[in-house]
Amino acid sequence: MARHGKLTVIGAGFYGSTTAMRAAEYDVFDTVVLTDILDGKAEGLALDMNQARSIEGFETRVVGQTTTPDGGGYEAISGSDVVIITAGLPRKPGMSRMDLIEVNAKIVRGVAEQISKFAPDAVVIVVSNPLDEMTALTQKATGFPHDRVFGQAGMLDTARFTHFVSEKLGVPIGSVKTLTLGSHGDTMVPVPSLCTVDGKPLRDFLSEAEIEELVVRTRNGGAEVVELLKTGSAYYAPSAAAARMARAVIEDSHAVLPVCAWVTGQHNVEGVYLGVEAEIGKEGIHRIHETELEQAELASLQTASEAVRAKQSDVANL
Ligand code: LAC
Repeated sequence: MARHGKLTVIGAGFYGSTTAMRAAEYDVFDTVVLTDILDGKAEGLALDMNQARSIEGFETRVVGQTTTPDGGGYEAISGSDVVIITAGLPRKPGMSRMDLIEVNAKIVRGVAEQISKFAPDAVVIVVSNPLDEMTALTQKATGFPHDRVFGQAGMLDTARFTHFVSEKLGVPIGSVKTLTLGSHGDTMVPVPSLCTVDGKPLRDFLSEAEIEELVVRTRNGGAEVVELLKTGSAYYAPSAAAARMARAVIEDSHAVLPVCAWVTGQHNVEGVYLGVEAEIGKEGIHRIHETELEQAELASLQTASEAVRAKQSDVANL
């Protein structure tokens, strides 16, 4: 498919800048815009990325833009086809994602209002934490249809689970397929019934207790990285997931990915943003896949939906 379209990444921290770089290196977008509130940071990073073009062999142009809290600079995002919101603070060691809700709600609301003004037709992918709540808030603050706003979490949690399984069994990463649904937090729902190694059930290779051990490590996957880094949170795997989602939108690929999407009765859950499998295309969520789950997995998904529902309605008032 010919290179086309404009991706904007809001926030040029490690997560945002790595996402912009990965997306530029795909060489599928015409333009990648990177914004930040720190004066000159986005411009500097964009210049640096553009100077890599002849080495890495991509034509996509990266544009950096400083923005101000009152909306200055946002004209640079005009006409974006896809916007990824990474703005907000990351966790510090010992913090839960939920500890960020008040401070990040203010930041994300401000950004969402600018997106609705300058990029009213964009598909918006949210990665700021706490993820499920920031996705719900972005939809409310933009007023965009639910299908055009979704969040990145399931791809990352699934990738972490896949990595841990591959390490545990000493098998190539490409032979492992896993899935996590639910929230990006304590109510993450692993789906062992659909996990495979070389196409065979994961349960043929690992006991329930061993699987549970990997699930616990996956659920704490972000915190484990935060503890080690001591400052900031993970960004290589998170940015890989966010950039792939943006690519699925611009290529209208209809890839089925685990994402945080608005559910309307699938898995017997309604009216909440929840991690589910969905087909991604140029209009955002094309269709939610009602993956067949075992009874216990379904029950966990419903528990997760109740946990995030209460918080998502609170966030409207932050
Ligand atoms: C993580 C953050 C980005 O899980 O939520 O690493």
